[in-house]
Amino acid sequence: MGQSISSRSIRQANTGLHVAIIMDGNGRWATRQGLPRVAGHRAGVAALKRVVEHAPDVGVRALSVYAFSCDNWSRPAPEVQSLFWLMRAFLRLETARMRQKGVRVQVFGRRDRLPAAVLREVDRSEFVTAPGRRLLLRVGVDYSAREAIARAAVRSAYPSAESARDALEHDLTREAGEVDLLIRTGGEKRLSDFLLWESAYAELYFTDCMWPDFGPAELDVALEEFHRRERRFGGIVAFNRSYVSNGPAHIVQHEPINRT
Ligand code: FPP
Repeated sequence: MGQSISSRSIRQANTGLHVAIIMDGNGRWATRQGLPRVAGHRAGVAALKRVVEHAPDVGVRALSVYAFSCDNWSRPAPEVQSLFWLMRAFLRLETARMRQKGVRVQVFGRRDRLPAAVLREVDRSEFVTAPGRRLLLRVGVDYSAREAIARAAVRSAYPSAESARDALEHDLTREAGEVDLLIRTGGEKRLSDFLLWESAYAELYFTDCMWPDFGPAELDVALEEFHRRERRFGGIVAFNRSYVSNGPAHIVQHEPINRT
């Protein structure tokens, strides 16, 4: 059976949040400064490091980031190569520190099309950081939610919709659970095929802040907003509170934080 409302709330309270981030805006950030797009991706890696460092201190137990979608193969080859080079460098240079800090790395998405050198670094990093319990850092690489759901459906091969649903739920959420808060930087308001099943009840938070400018302060603002929202998971609020409908959507737009 699917999880009940109360079991979801209890899990969230006991174990911390699962935050997903669509790290958008690297290219525009660079272009606005007269830099090549790859400079934006490099600055994006620095932003990721800041967020990984801060996340466990503010109640995040799992962080899923979108590093490369199945659709990103259509970018110019030099940009694709730079992205993989940066991922490899990130894993090679940060794995020891992440292990020391209790961060466990997991890469999700297709592995069969990854360059061999990247795959080696992924395997090594996942192995070395496996004992980490402070933060699960999940990196989506060559990932498409629709494809992940379709593959899970093929694996489940259950005869009824209900048993298939439960099997897919288990398959897709067993590592990190459902997404509590999904953040997208860069001003666009789309999910872009990221964690569609896992985000069924996620709170959505969109900000104009470009990903390279995102850091601990911006994560704190997103989490403050998340904690102000009332999550009902399709039910109603507790019996002893007056129920006032907030309207259908819980989508809030925020201006970037001015850095001084
Ligand atoms: C979207 O910005 C960002 C990406 C496609 C890649 C995100 C990758 C990183 C932050 C660096 C590598 C990741 C790891 C895990 C080390 P965009 O290029 O679409 O920006 P734009 O919309 O402004 O063009």
